[in-house]
Parts: sequence; C-alpha cells; structure tokens
Amino acid sequence: MHGRITRLQCISAHRRVYTQRNDGYSDQHMYRAKITGTGSCVPERVLTNADFETMVDTSDEWITARTGIKERHVAAVGESSSTFALRAAENALAMAGCDAGELDRIIVATVTPDTPTPSVGCILQDRLGAVKAASFDISAGCTGFLYALSLGDSLIRSGMCEKILVIGVETLSKITDYQDRTTCVLFGDGAGSVVLERSEGDRGILSTHLYSDGSYGKLLYVPGGGSAMPASHASVDGRAHYLKMDGNRVFKIAVKSLEEAALKALEHNGVTGDDIDLLVPHQANDRIIQAIAKRLNLPPEKVFVNIHKYGNTSSASVPIALDEANRQNRIRENGLILLDAFGSGFTWGSALIRW
Ligand code: UT7
Repeated sequence: MHGRITRLQCISAHRRVYTQRNDGYSDQHMYRAKITGTGSCVPERVLTNADFETMVDTSDEWITARTGIKERHVAAVGESSSTFALRAAENALAMAGCDAGELDRIIVATVTPDTPTPSVGCILQDRLGAVKAASFDISAGCTGFLYALSLGDSLIRSGMCEKILVIGVETLSKITDYQDRTTCVLFGDGAGSVVLERSEGDRGILSTHLYSDGSYGKLLYVPGGGSAMPASHASVDGRAHYLKMDGNRVFKIAVKSLEEAALKALEHNGVTGDDIDLLVPHQANDRIIQAIAKRLNLPPEKVFVNIHKYGNTSSASVPIALDEANRQNRIRENGLILLDAFGSGFTWGSALIRW
C-alpha cells in the first residue's frame, strides 16, 4: 500500500513536469532555474577608435555615430577563450557561493573555442575542478548565451540537474580581418557567466524563446576553417578564416528579429514594457538597441548599454552586460529582466527573468 501511494505521487509529480515547445515553455513546472551568481572578464588590452584611424580608412566620428562603440578589449598573444571564460566562471561561482565540484553541467556558448576539440567546456571542467560536471560547447552566434541559458533552464526544470554553469565567451579578435574596415571596428573579446541553481520559488527564469533561420547564413559567416574549407595556403591567402558580414542587411533583420523575440517574451508572460525593470540586449549596435527600446517604450534608465566599452562580443555580450548591471545594482530583487539577442545563423531569442 505504502509503495502504491509513493508510485501515484511519482506519477502526479511527473505530470507536472514542464513541457517545452519549440517557441517556449508552458507555465507548469516543478522547479525554476534561478541565477545565483554572475561574473565576467575582458582582456586588459584595449583598442580605441583612434587606434583604428591608424589601421584602416575610418574615423572616431563614423564609428561612434554608426555603432556607439568607442573602444573594445582584445586578447594578447597567448590568451584564448578559455582564459577569459575561466575568470568569468570563477567570479560567478564566488558570487553564488558555489563550489565547482557541485556543478552538474558546464555549458559554454562560443564560436571561437580554443581548438575545434576539445571544447572550452572540457578545458574549464578540468581547470575549475568540476569533477561531476558533464561539459560541452554550443554554437549559436551572438544568441549563443541565450541558447545555453535555455538549455540549462530546461535541465533544471526537468529535475535532471541542480547546478549549472552557463558561459558566453568569444575571442573574436582571432577571426577579425583588421584590413576590412566594415567589420574590424565592431568586434571585441570577453566572457560572461551565470550560475543557475534549482529553486522552488517564483523567482528565476520565467521563459525562454529561441528562433533560427539558416537561409540567411551567408550574410554573417566565416567561410574557412571548417570541414567545407579546411585550412590551406589558398584559404589563408584568401582571408577565408575571417568573419564576413553584410552589415546593412543584417542590421535590418536584427531589428525585426529582436523586436519579435522581446514581444514574444512579454506576451507569453502577460506583461508589457512598463513591467520590465531592465532590458539587457545583445550589444551589436547602439542604434539597434535604441530601436528596440523605443518599440518596447522603455526609458533610457531601463536599458543597459555598455557597447561603447566593449564593442560586439557575440556570445559574451549579454552575460557581460548582465554581470555589469548586477554589480552596478541596476537589478533589484524580484525585478523583471528581459534578455534579447540576435546573431549569425541567423539565430535570435529572448529570456524573461524574475530576479
Ligand atoms: O552581432 C550580430 C549581428 N550583427 C549586427 O547586428 C550588426 C548589424 N549591422 C550594423 O551594425 C551596421 O550595419 C554597421 C555598423 C556594420 C554598418 O553601418 P551602416 O549604417 O549599415 O553602414 P553601411 O554598411 O551601409 O555603410 C555605409 C558607408 C559605406 O560607404 P559608401 O558605400 O556609402 O561610400 C561603407 O563603405 O559607410 C562605409 N563604411 C565605413 N566608413 C568609415 C563602412 N565601414 C566603415 C568604417 N569607417 N569603419
């Protein structure tokens, strides 16, 4: 009899487990994933707009007016994505008061891993001493952190994991063509990280919405270095290992997509822009950020912007901004935080968090 009651309780608990659709979650859940720590790290070396004036045909005026960027941090010789990811992870773990040995997963979003294999996740697993963490990388362009966050959220909601380290890291300077003025002024390096922990309260990640459309792949891509075009003298001479972007076309689709993902998060949770405490968007272009803020009717104090300091750091941009906002006390307990990102693939998505 006792055994039967236990079995029924199990079945009923099982039924309450969330169901994930490809565009979000149902509201039913057993657990929530709560962010208990944030961390970030950028390289010490800085390239200013004045530096670029000596490298290519550009000006501080053009870069500032068209992008909002004033400077960006770039890796020194010998530094790679794991260098910054490790420090960002240590900062987040310290804030959470979490020992790396307690982690169930390490999920790293990056398009610039140290090596094609092993993953940055496995390098961190070793360096952090995360003895029981299954660790891996995912690639989803500048939306990578939101993809990783959504996956971590799913693993916690399902009951499979209790503690997960999620990281977005890039060393874009290694795939940037410093002879191409249309791209080189845009990108920077760095890492941001969060610790996700199982929670049974109302606070935590309320929803994630992810999208992709591969038909736009070649508007923002790196042609060489993969199995389609392995490294060769010809590929190096042809500068095929550098990022190529049709910026103007990307810009227009980015604005629409970011708007779509943000509005979906609001609609799904039955809230409006007025309810949002802080928008933490991908930092690709200040004009894009201001367009989204206008669409959501958000005043400047509700929009976190740090693109002037770091440029576009792809997967790292949202978690670096989130960590800075957190450490600058821009996020209040129980406040609603909206994350919104767009990137190569194309990929885009949003997350709504009750802090
Ligand atoms: O993170 C993933 C997603 N990425 C994005 O969302 C980036 C989206 N795109 C953008 O942010 C913008 O499109 C850019 C900042 C990349 C470019 O701004 P734009 O207003 O779209 O400029 P444009 O590409 O239409 O170029 C306008 C002019 C061109 O000259 P002409 O043809 O009009 O003579 C460019 O050659 O600006 C020129 N230009 C520059 N001039 C000075 C392009 N780059 C530079 C430069 N300095 N660095």
